[in-house]
Amino acid sequence: MLLRKLTDEIEGLRGLDCVARGAAGVVSRVTRPDVIKNALSGTWLGHPLHPMLTDVPIGAWSMASVLDVTAGRAGAASARRLVGVGLIASVPAAWTGASDWSDTYGAPRRVGLVHALLNVTASGMQLASLCARRRGRRGVGMLLTGAGLCVTGCSAYLGGHLSLVRGVGVNHTAFQGTVDEWTDVAAESDVVDDGPFRTTAGGVPVMIVRHRGALYALSATCTHAGGPLDEGEVVRDSCIRCPWHGSEFRLKDGRVTRGPAAVDEPRWDVKADGGRVYVKSATR
Ligand code: FES
Repeated sequence: MLLRKLTDEIEGLRGLDCVARGAAGVVSRVTRPDVIKNALSGTWLGHPLHPMLTDVPIGAWSMASVLDVTAGRAGAASARRLVGVGLIASVPAAWTGASDWSDTYGAPRRVGLVHALLNVTASGMQLASLCARRRGRRGVGMLLTGAGLCVTGCSAYLGGHLSLVRGVGVNHTAFQGTVDEWTDVAAESDVVDDGPFRTTAGGVPVMIVRHRGALYALSATCTHAGGPLDEGEVVRDSCIRCPWHGSEFRLKDGRVTRGPAAVDEPRWDVKADGGRVYVKSATR
C-alpha cells in the first residue's frame, strides 16, 4: 500500500514536468534516426526490448547477493564479476528504457523519470560496490549490492506500474476481437486515394486506404500507444505513419517498419463489391 500511495503521489507531481520535458527532448533528439529508434524499441525483433534487457542486471546483482550470503569468501570473485556484468548490462537496459520513456506524457512520464533516477542511483551503488570489492572491502561491497538491489526493487515496481497499470509498452490491439464474415463498412466513394478512412467492423476500429489503385485495411488503433492511424499519412514504401510518435506500418501486411512500435498492426482482408467496401479479419 505504501508503494501504491507513493506512486500516486509521483503521478501527481507536476513539478517534475519541466525536468522530464527537457530530458525527454534530449533523448528524442538522440534517438530520432530510424536505425537508432528501431534498434532501441525492438522493432527489428517484433518485441519491446527494454523489459527483456532489464532481466540481466537484476539477475546478475541478485545472484551476486546470493553468493555473498551463501558462498562466503569462496564466492567473492564470482560475486564481484556478477556485479560488473550487471553494470555493463545496465547500459543497454537504460538506453532502451530512455527511448521508450521519451514517447510518454503526463503521469507515466513523471513515474518514468523517477524510475530512471532510481535506476541511476542503484547503478551508482553497484559501481561503488564493485570499487569496494576490488579494494578488498568485501563487507562494504556486500552491503552496497544489497542496498542497491532494494532500490532496484522499488524501481522495478514503478516499471511494472507503467506497463501493467498505465499500459506503456503493451500492444494496444491485444484485446481487439476478430470478424470472420465479410462486413459492409463503407461506400467505395468514401475511400479516396491516400486518404485514410475510419470505420468499424464488429466494434473494432478499422482504417481503409486506397493507394496506387489498391484497397488496404488495417486496424485503426496503433499497436504502440493507441494512436489513430486513420489520422496519419501514407508515406514512403507504401506505409501509414502514426500521427502520435511516427511509427510506420506497411499497408499490405501491417508489418512495422519504423518504431517506436515493436508489434505489427493487425491486417484486414478488404474488397469492393457493388459500390460498397467489405472487410474481415485476415488470417495470419
Ligand atoms: S501511438 Fe505511438 S507511434 Fe502510434
